[in-house]
Amino acid sequence: MKKDKTHIHWYPGHIAKAEKKLKEQLSLVDAVIEVLDARLPLSSCYEDITRLLGQKPRLILLNKSDLVEKSELNKFIKYIEEKTNCPVIPTDAKHSKDLNLIIKKAVELSEPRIQALIAKGLLRRAARVMVVGLPNVGKSSIINKLTRSSKTKIGAKAGVTRQQQWVRINPQLELLDTPGIIPMRQEDQERAKKLAFVNSISENAYSNEIVAQDLLDILNESQAKVFREYYKLPDDKELNIDNISLERNWLLTGGSTDRERTSVYILRDFREGKIGKFILDKINQ
Ligand code: G4P
Repeated sequence: MKKDKTHIHWYPGHIAKAEKKLKEQLSLVDAVIEVLDARLPLSSCYEDITRLLGQKPRLILLNKSDLVEKSELNKFIKYIEEKTNCPVIPTDAKHSKDLNLIIKKAVELSEPRIQALIAKGLLRRAARVMVVGLPNVGKSSIINKLTRSSKTKIGAKAGVTRQQQWVRINPQLELLDTPGIIPMRQEDQERAKKLAFVNSISENAYSNEIVAQDLLDILNESQAKVFREYYKLPDDKELNIDNISLERNWLLTGGSTDRERTSVYILRDFREGKIGKFILDKINQ
């Protein structure tokens, strides 16, 4: 059967499997570092995270903060902190060298659980944390940055599969070196599209042309000027794939517009922050 490319697809079987794995990983840690994409501070959050975590503390990172306006992001930081009661830190794992604040907060958040162990008569141990998030939000980049200074692999622990290694960040903190990948249900197509814009959904699940045009439509509401300037599109020309294709001279033999190539470029330009700095969510959306 041919896949309907107007919809973004998801597979309940894969999700159940991924969630089971994530639960196993979560059972090993004292606290969780959840990585969100700063361009989607609300839509890149896993709605079921509190169910999965129970009482476990969570530090939220709004990563790729270099791709959004700082003042806009600050509004979301405040909003998410109030809504979740979790600390929120903006991060730029691509350029930043100093992720010490993450380490400090992760230790702080884990401390009540360590204290609970001590109260039970156990010896103090380092806090154990892991990084979770949707695909492509920057989980591995953050783990790499956090572990770069400390390559002390301390091996597998009881109950952990061989591949799962812990890295000692400092005497107070150990980090699971594999991220927890959050499986995303795509019942909400609007949200799925936003996740496709930032490359958090496999390209096989959607059509580049449809997603690129959706991106143009969304940004046309608020950022038409910036977009038009970037693609040098005059005001009398509609902001669409064909006009951008003509303007850039991305044509097929025979002269018709190369919609696929143009769509791939539009999505790439947006993802790399070349067009401008946009947050695609709205508070109280
Ligand atoms: P993941 O583990 O969550 O799947 O994400 P990963 O760290 O692999 O990062 C996905 C892409 O996002 C990478 O780009 C990475 O460099 C980029 N990235 C991560 N954090 C940031 C950030 O704070 N700002 C920006 N601008 N980009 C970030 P890539 O093109 O796939 O790889 P590369 O060419 O950078 O190596």
